Amino acid sequence: MVVNIRNLTIDDYEALCALWEEAMLPYRPNGRDTRKNIAAQIDGECSIYLAAEDNGRLVGAVLGTHDGRKGWINRLAVAPDHQRRGIAALLVQEVEQRLIDLGIEIFACQIEDWNDTSMTVFDRLGYTRHDDIIYFTKRLRPDV
Ligand SMILES: CC(C)(COP(=O)(O)OP(=O)(O)OC[C@H]1O[C@@H](n2cnc3c(N)ncnc32)[C@H](O)[C@@H]1OP(=O)(O)O)[C@@H](O)C(=O)NCCC(=O)NCCS
Repeated sequence: MVVNIRNLTIDDYEALCALWEEAMLPYRPNGRDTRKNIAAQIDGECSIYLAAEDNGRLVGAVLGTHDGRKGWINRLAVAPDHQRRGIAALLVQEVEQRLIDLGIEIFACQIEDWNDTSMTVFDRLGYTRHDDIIYFTKRLRPDV
């Protein structure tokens, strides 16, 4: 297995949605994850959207972003038949390096409370858990 990390393009859209489904990662096909919205985000200057490819097949992806102060790791997913081989680690390291190159030195992610695997993975990747922060949002539509 030789995994290649590259930028995601909008041509990956269908494979990306299939990957999220295969990895059982909830996404918003009628909200921020429509093809149109992903197309608008993908080349944005705050986006570091990466693909992991094995022999031309999309086997992993991450939607890295930053807000100018802090970097965010979103939607990290690896295909079940490629998990536990270090692909998530490669994707996160690449996002972190690109953030470092922008002068950003803090990286964050939000993990749903049922997702013990993800918590273990981010712990292994050197992230610290904060139980004293509660997530608030304001949504203009329920499925945004
Ligand atoms: C989370 C996910 C992306 C991890 O991908 P992966 O490629 O299997 O992870 P890696 O192989 O790079 O593993 C990174 C580290 O986490 C550990 N790890 C990975 N999966 C693990 C698991 N199920 N249980 C315990 N440890 C695990 C690895 O051993 C490794 O640690 P190490 O370097 O100390 O050995 C993958 O399980 C996935 O797609 N899950 C479903 C989607 C999801 O929940 N995404 C997170 C959203 S916040």
